[in-house]
Amino acid sequence: MPRSSLKSAAPPDWLRTAVFYQIYPQSFADSNGDGIGDLPGIISKLPYLKELGITAIWLNPIFESPFRDAGYDISDFRKVAPRYGSNQDAVQLFQAAHQLGMRVVLDLVAGHTSDEHPWFVEAAADTRSPYRSRYLFTGAEPQTPMFGDAIPKTPQGEHYVANFLPFQPALNFGYNQPDPERTWQLAPGDPACLAMREELREIMRFWLDLGCDGFRVDMASSLIKGETDRAALQGLWQDFRTWLDSSYPEAVLIAEWSNPMDAIEAGYHVDFMIHFGEPAYTYLVGCPAEVAVQGQVPSMFFDRAGGGDIRLFVENYLKHYSATSGRGYISLPTGNHDFHRPRRGREFADLRVLYAMLLTMPGVPFIYYGDEIGMRNLEGIPEKEGSMWRTGDRTPMQWEKGAPNLGFSKSNPRDLYLSLDPAVDAPTVSEQLADPDSLLHFTRSLIALRRTHSALGNDGHFRPLLAEQGDCPFVYERCDDSGKYLIAIHPADTERTVELPELLGATLLLAEGAEHTGSRLCLDGVSFAVFKLQR
Ligand code: NOJ
Repeated sequence: MPRSSLKSAAPPDWLRTAVFYQIYPQSFADSNGDGIGDLPGIISKLPYLKELGITAIWLNPIFESPFRDAGYDISDFRKVAPRYGSNQDAVQLFQAAHQLGMRVVLDLVAGHTSDEHPWFVEAAADTRSPYRSRYLFTGAEPQTPMFGDAIPKTPQGEHYVANFLPFQPALNFGYNQPDPERTWQLAPGDPACLAMREELREIMRFWLDLGCDGFRVDMASSLIKGETDRAALQGLWQDFRTWLDSSYPEAVLIAEWSNPMDAIEAGYHVDFMIHFGEPAYTYLVGCPAEVAVQGQVPSMFFDRAGGGDIRLFVENYLKHYSATSGRGYISLPTGNHDFHRPRRGREFADLRVLYAMLLTMPGVPFIYYGDEIGMRNLEGIPEKEGSMWRTGDRTPMQWEKGAPNLGFSKSNPRDLYLSLDPAVDAPTVSEQLADPDSLLHFTRSLIALRRTHSALGNDGHFRPLLAEQGDCPFVYERCDDSGKYLIAIHPADTERTVELPELLGATLLLAEGAEHTGSRLCLDGVSFAVFKLQR
């Protein structure tokens, strides 16, 4: 089937200059001393985010859940889990953020529920239940889930399709080419699948009407099964985008798809390039072995050893950038709750070079909570709520040096959601606020630079100038009507000198470990520079 080309409205203006911050709610700020972060805690930290230059927040799921996958197993889409507060707290968060000029995007877990969701419980128990057609019950035919060893089976002994872990039954948005032998496979246009779509729309409407500003959609490409091409899936999301454009034009759709060409064509405003799917991001920072394609973790560019190959990133990124530029945004986040935090290196130098790149690339930047102070990935702590390999990147935010639980919570340390970084030099917001050279201030100045020079922002054009294999800097240009900029990024631990004719007459805006004379740029190991070019 040919792809239909979507004619969407322009993205809301706020997205053009947006810098997002991702909050893992259970680990950000605990206001009531129960050891788990909550919505009032987040509200109390909004001024901190504002100061950092953040303009929008993405919250991981905050909904009622048995928490066997940390809230990605929802049992009530319309209710905030009591451990985070109430729906009223969510409304207050939206309002407080809006008053500060910030937006709040929720997580939409569109592809599955918990097996404890009342729809599923009723549908499993009663084959005549109206909720039956919301799921994919396969009778005696076992189905292998994406993760987890168990074969999904209801207490009544029936198999079903799970979307991720066995206890996350997939919702029924249809099959691209249903197999007539398998009666649970319906076409996406079947009334049962369309009814599911309407239910999802009502869930979105519910939260939009309460004041949220859009959704990050979990596993956005998983909704329609049995794909041979993307047409049906893209049609489904285009339908949602068209509806948003007319009914909620200020709302955004952000995909967890990691294939911007497909996601933007489907009507998404933004798609992440992350640790799975299209490989661009993994060529920069690697990926957890658990999700590596056939166990192959590529050598990464952000490595002092200089063994990576930035050409691989450029080739893959450019393919998606050229196809989506002007229609939607790619996001290269600093991290997220599904993969290891980036390595800090000595004195956070490696992070500074990484952020210099991530915050001068086109698209919408996302900063994962704690990355702005260089929180480390904790090793060896027990798994929590299905965290698997992801435990160490979900630990509590480190607010205040010397305070109980580093200011995250007043609870007994025993009751903390996850343990805190025990290192004596665990970075904290309080220490870094007091140190003008800290990573926190550095991140703030990068965001400010991006916002001051529009060409460095979300819409400025991007063009690679120098991309070679090995320990060579990556040099690229950003430009718009207001000017042209050159950025050199050198994560390897070797001194390098490069000749760049573009640098003649250039003004240095920000650099660490870099000097230039005329067209010659001398870079220390682990360094970067950002220039405004003469023309
Ligand atoms: C992707 C989410 O980011 C991850 O945390 C979750 O476990 C799966 N989707 C399942 O919802």
